[in-house]
Amino acid sequence: MDLEDYILNHIDAEPENLYRLDRDTHLQLLYSRMCSGHLQGRLLKMLVRMINPKMVLELGTYSAYSALCLAEGLTDDSCHVHTIEIEDELEDFIREHLAQSLFGHRVTLHIGDAADIVPTLGETFDLIYIDANKRDYVAYYHLVMPYLRQGGFIIADNTLWDGKVADGIEHHDAQTQGILAFNDLVASDPRVEKVILPLRDGLTLIHKLT
Ligand SMILES: C[S@@+](CC[C@H](N)C(=O)[O-])C[C@H]1O[C@@H](n2cnc3c(N)ncnc32)[C@H](O)[C@@H]1O
Repeated sequence: MDLEDYILNHIDAEPENLYRLDRDTHLQLLYSRMCSGHLQGRLLKMLVRMINPKMVLELGTYSAYSALCLAEGLTDDSCHVHTIEIEDELEDFIREHLAQSLFGHRVTLHIGDAADIVPTLGETFDLIYIDANKRDYVAYYHLVMPYLRQGGFIIADNTLWDGKVADGIEHHDAQTQGILAFNDLVASDPRVEKVILPLRDGLTLIHKLT
């Protein structure tokens, strides 16, 4: 048994609907590796339980696995997740799986570019999950900060980018450059507390102080 199997055998089981969603993602969609999956999904749900947000924003829905984990962690139906996905061909898949979940009614899907949609939502958020295009993480940070309440949290996924941020090799691709610039920006921002968890592809937790 490898370490990942050991971990998965010693944490909460993956709910049946999320197991099916993960399977459908792998069977029906391209780039299924982008799906959060069992371990990260249970962590997202627990982080929501700990933070206790009323309003959550997600950039990058993909197959809605993470959106449903965020929704599952909410206290009750007065709390809500807004999730934004730019690829309109994912819409039917996402809506079908939101409809099949006990928590799908807590999620509003917006199809379009996060840069266009975030300013139109008219909400202030307690928790923002950044998981869209790695090239644009710096722009997302500047985009969402005005809509994050003081004391709120950002969780940013993929911030270790397969270890490329610190493997001693110069990576010139736009995605690695985007993540490097984001990590430097967050590290030097005195408005926030920050910690990077080396879980899966790296998860940065950011706490807005002022
Ligand atoms: C890593 S996947 C998201 C995975 C999902 N959050 C999960 O954990 O299961 C990134 C998604 O962001 C979407 N995306 C990329 N650029 C975007 C943008 N500017 N606005 C909204 N979504 C975007 C992509 O189409 C893709 O589906």
